[in-house]
Amino acid sequence: MANVRLDKFISSAMAVTRSEAHTLIRRGYVAVDGKPERDIGKKLDPEKVSVTCRGESLNYSEYHYFMLNKPDGYICSTEDMRDPTIMELLPDSVKHFDIFPVGRLDKDTFGLVILTDNGELAHFLLSPKRHVDKRYYLETDLPMTENDVISLEKGVDIGEKRLTLPARLEICEDNNKAYITICEGKFHQIKRMMESLGKKVIYLERVQFDEIKLDPDLERGEIRELTAQEIASLLKNMA
Ligand code: URA
Repeated sequence: MANVRLDKFISSAMAVTRSEAHTLIRRGYVAVDGKPERDIGKKLDPEKVSVTCRGESLNYSEYHYFMLNKPDGYICSTEDMRDPTIMELLPDSVKHFDIFPVGRLDKDTFGLVILTDNGELAHFLLSPKRHVDKRYYLETDLPMTENDVISLEKGVDIGEKRLTLPARLEICEDNNKAYITICEGKFHQIKRMMESLGKKVIYLERVQFDEIKLDPDLERGEIRELTAQEIASLLKNMA
């Protein structure tokens, strides 16, 4: 890992702003390898030093990873002129990281959004070449049928140059409800796929992104850090 400034280390490890980090350092609360360090710009190698604040030892991560359970009514982007964005749902401790959503859900779609400040990972996961699986729960105005399962497996015409890539539709006992797994991310993709089959999506919720499942304990609008295992699953193919 590259060397980092002490103020960046503190703000990242303690989820505080840069200026709060400056205060902690200048007041002498921060120690590097056991010695108080008041130089906010001191460069250090996070893998080689031990850093404490008021005696508590700190861990530094270069990047940050979160999952949000998106409610409807929020735009999945970092800013919007008209509507509230998901960034408004983030607590202050998370807001100052430069995180952004990995891909977009529609304003009226619920569920799993991954947020990170690791641009390289986001780019990798969103690349059309990667075909990352995304699983959704959906409800439609009309019942879905075995023919729909077959059509979606073959690919349907949503007005793009090519048919959609194979998608897996698992219809529930109540045939107006189903799970669908897609490996693309075109604008309104699922709504357009169902429309091509004569159905209107009336509820849509993302429940899984690649291997990461929406945490059932996460309330709508809540965010939590990804676990080390979840982060490793996202990074596994990047090397
Ligand atoms: N497909 C859609 O139609 N909308 C979403 O938000 C995600 C996938």
